[in-house]
Amino acid sequence: MIESIKKLSALLALGLFCISCTNQPVEPTKTVLRDGELPLPADYKTWPKFLADIQRTDNKQVRDIYINPTGHAGVSGKPFPYGTVMVMENYKAHLNAEGAVQLKDGLAAIFVMGKGEKWGADVSENLATGEWIFSAYKPDGSKSDVDLKTCRACHAPLKTKDFVHRFDEYFAQRTR
Ligand code: HEC
Repeated sequence: MIESIKKLSALLALGLFCISCTNQPVEPTKTVLRDGELPLPADYKTWPKFLADIQRTDNKQVRDIYINPTGHAGVSGKPFPYGTVMVMENYKAHLNAEGAVQLKDGLAAIFVMGKGEKWGADVSENLATGEWIFSAYKPDGSKSDVDLKTCRACHAPLKTKDFVHRFDEYFAQRTR
């Protein structure tokens, strides 16, 4: 009995025994996924906010972006780690006479981007976004039929910012 307790404490000391593994990343980074294959994570609303209430009056939208704990733990100003997933909610917005957002209305679309080893290798050079891939969903969670090449066309030029539009803003305001 005493021997087995000793053995257990030795394993614990070595960190070989995982009692609570809740911080382990659960994203499927080992499988190579393509555009459209990233699922909409059921629990993304519990994730840290990447940025909230982005006022896109130019296209009458307000956007909230979430990032999973793996991405949120990344090094400031550096490319995001494998296993990072970001979810962007695009809400319809009503503007007032001055053109400012008066009301954040229903969801219009949900966009997902995620990074994994060797992901996104099957696209042409001009649409390459490193190892990021894209998916899009309707407000009810079903798959959207939007052409995912359009995501790449808009994100591909941001090579120095890891293909993430709000890269600088995120790291400037991140607290954890
Ligand atoms: C017309 C250009 C454009 C297209 C097309 C586009 N995006 Fe973006 N995306 C942006 C901009 C700009 C932002 C920053 C947030 C904002 O200002 O709305 C952004 C932000 C994001 C973010 C949050 C991380 C970041 O880059 O700041 C995700 C996730 C995202 N887009 C996914 C997608 C997906 C998925 C598609 C295709 C279904 C897509 N985007 C299509 C321009 C675009």
